[in-house]
Amino acid sequence: MKGIILAGGSGTRLYPLTRVLSKQLIPVYDKPMIYYPLSVLMLAGIQDILIISTPRDLPQFQELFGDGSHLGLTISYTIQPRPEGLAQAFVLGKSFIGDDSVALILGDNIFFGSGFSHILDKCSALTEGGLIFGYPVKDPERYGVVEFNQENRVVGIEEKPEHPKSKFAVPGLYFYDNDVIEIAENINPSPRGELEITDVNMEYLHRGKLQVQPLSRGFCWLDTGTHESLQQAASYVQAVQDRQGLKVACIEEIAYSLGYINSEQMTKLAQDMLKNQYGQYLMDIVNEKETGSTFS
Ligand code: G1P
Repeated sequence: MKGIILAGGSGTRLYPLTRVLSKQLIPVYDKPMIYYPLSVLMLAGIQDILIISTPRDLPQFQELFGDGSHLGLTISYTIQPRPEGLAQAFVLGKSFIGDDSVALILGDNIFFGSGFSHILDKCSALTEGGLIFGYPVKDPERYGVVEFNQENRVVGIEEKPEHPKSKFAVPGLYFYDNDVIEIAENINPSPRGELEITDVNMEYLHRGKLQVQPLSRGFCWLDTGTHESLQQAASYVQAVQDRQGLKVACIEEIAYSLGYINSEQMTKLAQDMLKNQYGQYLMDIVNEKETGSTFS
């Protein structure tokens, strides 16, 4: 399975923070925002990743991640010339996807929760149809909203409905078979001028091939769309990390624990950060593994 991170958009809701900087590069506590969605694709076992961003911002992502080999990944890049919708990712990424299935994650979506790796394993095994998530929120009208029955069969899906039929928002993480390219190529722009991911999901629903995976109440899907929610996300990450001494979305740690990089490579990644707790954290992981202590 291939993975796409869509990190476009003008981020105007976060101005002046994002006036000259991509939203997905601003910090969420101790790391750039895009680390969080990248960690999700990595935990799903996806190593071949395409980052899509604006002509202005793409070079900075390239500077940050290069070809991804230092993390045992293959990262490539494509421009989205104008913000014409999430579903455009599959049109722009057509040759990257090839004959494969694909996961799309939005560059500003943060997921975290116990058991998530297990869920992701299941999702990345998908070979047919589409798979979305449902997450209960108090303001579903701000999102795509999915309605499903007791057997988790999708009954309906709507984009930002005035009167939501359920409280389950659809987070920005989607798994599809290869038909998604053809589907995305054939949908029409919505009144806001975008190729809507919800229209892609509706087509899968019409074909009887859309599954939903509800995410439980203890699970965390964080919003980063406003100054307040961005601050809350950072505080949340800080609180969890400080309490457990374990990092959320530490892509270097994930690469190491999945065996994509060895101790020597991990040590190299830590080198220029040794003066701070991030670099020390990476070194501790290497040392603990070498002495056979608590790392698992
Ligand atoms: C987009 C999707 C929406 C989804 C949301 C998740 O909304 O259109 O269905 O629930 O991402 O973040 P947008 O951010 O474009 O308003």
